[in-house]
Amino acid sequence: MSRFYVTTPIYYVNSLPHVGHIYTTVVADTLARYHRLAGDEVYFLTGTDEHGQNIERAAAREGIPPLQLADRVVARYHELWREIGVAPDDFIRTPEPRHYRGVEAMIRRIAANDDLYLARHEGWYCSPCETYYTEKELVGDKRCPIHDLPVEWKEEENVFFRLSRYQQALLDWYDDPSEPVRPRTRANEVRSFVEGGLKDLSVSRANLSWGIPFPGYPGHTVYVWLDALSNYLSALGFGRDAEDGLYDRFWTGGDTRLHLIGKDILRHHAVYWPAFLLSAGLPLPTQVWAHGFWLKDQRKISKSAENVARPDHLVAQFGPDPLRYFLLREMVFGQDASFSDEAFVDRYNSDLANDLGNTVSRLVTLSRKAFAGRTPPEACGDNPVLAVAAQAVADYRKAMEELAFSRALEALWRLLAEANQYLVSREPWKLIGREDERSRLSRVLWNGLEAVRIVATGLLPVMPQVAARVLAAIAAPPAEPSLDQLAWGGLATDRELPPPSALFPRIDKAAFLAPPAAQEPGEAAQKEAQPMIAIDQFMEVQLKVGTVVAAEAVPKSQKLLRLTIELGEEQPRTVVAGIAQQYGPEAMQGRQVVVVANLQPAKLMGIESQGMVLAASPGDGAVLLAPLQPVPNGTRVR
Ligand code: MSP
Repeated sequence: MSRFYVTTPIYYVNSLPHVGHIYTTVVADTLARYHRLAGDEVYFLTGTDEHGQNIERAAAREGIPPLQLADRVVARYHELWREIGVAPDDFIRTPEPRHYRGVEAMIRRIAANDDLYLARHEGWYCSPCETYYTEKELVGDKRCPIHDLPVEWKEEENVFFRLSRYQQALLDWYDDPSEPVRPRTRANEVRSFVEGGLKDLSVSRANLSWGIPFPGYPGHTVYVWLDALSNYLSALGFGRDAEDGLYDRFWTGGDTRLHLIGKDILRHHAVYWPAFLLSAGLPLPTQVWAHGFWLKDQRKISKSAENVARPDHLVAQFGPDPLRYFLLREMVFGQDASFSDEAFVDRYNSDLANDLGNTVSRLVTLSRKAFAGRTPPEACGDNPVLAVAAQAVADYRKAMEELAFSRALEALWRLLAEANQYLVSREPWKLIGREDERSRLSRVLWNGLEAVRIVATGLLPVMPQVAARVLAAIAAPPAEPSLDQLAWGGLATDRELPPPSALFPRIDKAAFLAPPAAQEPGEAAQKEAQPMIAIDQFMEVQLKVGTVVAAEAVPKSQKLLRLTIELGEEQPRTVVAGIAQQYGPEAMQGRQVVVVANLQPAKLMGIESQGMVLAASPGDGAVLLAPLQPVPNGTRVR
């Protein structure tokens, strides 16, 4: 058994989570689940990075304290992780006292090593990155190379960290045979940056009140990156007098200390962070793994480039697991990939509905028919599927250890394809009812079901709910799931098989992707006939943003939720919304919605609804509309 510590970046709270944040966290969750199934001791950490100028400014724009803004976004993170089956062991927030203690302890060790001094600092500053750039690094007309936004000139007295001292130690670290920085191409970029010479790093900010006061330097605030990076230790109890053992278990005594990050924050994690740790005399991470970007229309999906992709509608309609599968299957870990609803539907239909769903339902149906509703009575230990399974499992495990998720899933799908080909070649449907072929029929179907069992076991870390459903569907729910169950031979014979249910109903791609008008010809015709309206007619409808402060199911109704919405008025309003099938009451708490505020009240199931929330209605569904960034309650929508 080994000890496995995995972290995600801690996310900024000046915008709501998008697919970039979801991706890293799903990867971390998958790895945590995989290592737990392997019998390892696992600790999975995520959290939020809440200090700094950006958050201070975003909160000032709304006229609220930074912590209030942060609370709102943090609530959404918690809810989102629940919705997509992400189960971290801990969620750290940088304003927490335990984090202050960790940062202070880190700085005390760095200061004791004589690595801090005061000096004047000037340079080009990108506030979204919270980073200084040299003139050479800027692009176009003095714009940030990451955000392509104008940078600002900043001059102030700062505390400096003697980064230049650590050039050789860092280069030696990159050369370690364990290749601590991955993928190799990115490690090479970092190496050339360091070889180019390291300047000392400014690690404090003046005139910033929203942050951790710099110990020993009154009037200075800890630079957000020194603050944020320390979360990986403070969450484990570093800096606390009475340690609860996590720090010793997972940092100093851990076997794997893995930071998962996006490629834009590699320098912070592969240069600054190890240098801080070297200075503090603490062990370095064993691996920093930088993945690529999710792109939409060839551009990075980000809060600053207004092309944010929030796949909430995909989760609301199909549950979390198809999205988890899509993210891990579609992106080659380390490279960029494109995100689109179309690519999602294609993967869903071909891999899940067709390959996996159809194989399961075909095998269950045949087996039930042949063996009176039960799994086949006879197992089989010698057949062509078995050899393919052994290879697929070995490839899957190797790929998972290397964080090559798309390859791991490909390996499982090779086994599915083999099982299908095997069925086609053995034609078991022709053997049903023939007493002389009963034994052969049993072995053929058992082999197919056994292949499915192994595939579903491998899918447990990626699609926990779906994999459990598949295992239940073939009467093989494991009492205690483990990777040992990837070995051939685990399917019990002669067990009752539940009737097959559609695991992945096929998505009608054209209907799903078509704009609503094209979906319903009746509506399109109606639109033709309707006259256009003038802007003042539209303005008569008062649309306002509000925050749901309470939500509960309406008794005896499957569709209705009773929402209490803060609309910036004296009293919150009660609004009854027909969204219960898509959103549970807990998913609504803290969420911003758009409300028709001047709608005549109406009684629904005996409750007076004082307005209506806006939702898109694909088919029978409901997908709530919300502002892309949080805005004050009562803000008009027009
Ligand atoms: N707060 C810092 C991290 C501090 S870690 C000690 C930060 N936060 S962030 O919210 O801006 O970004 C967090 C992560 O999301 C980064 O790893 C970033 O690479 C990732 N992504 C943001 N947009 C992305 C895509 N479009 N695609 C994939 N990941 C991307 O940086």
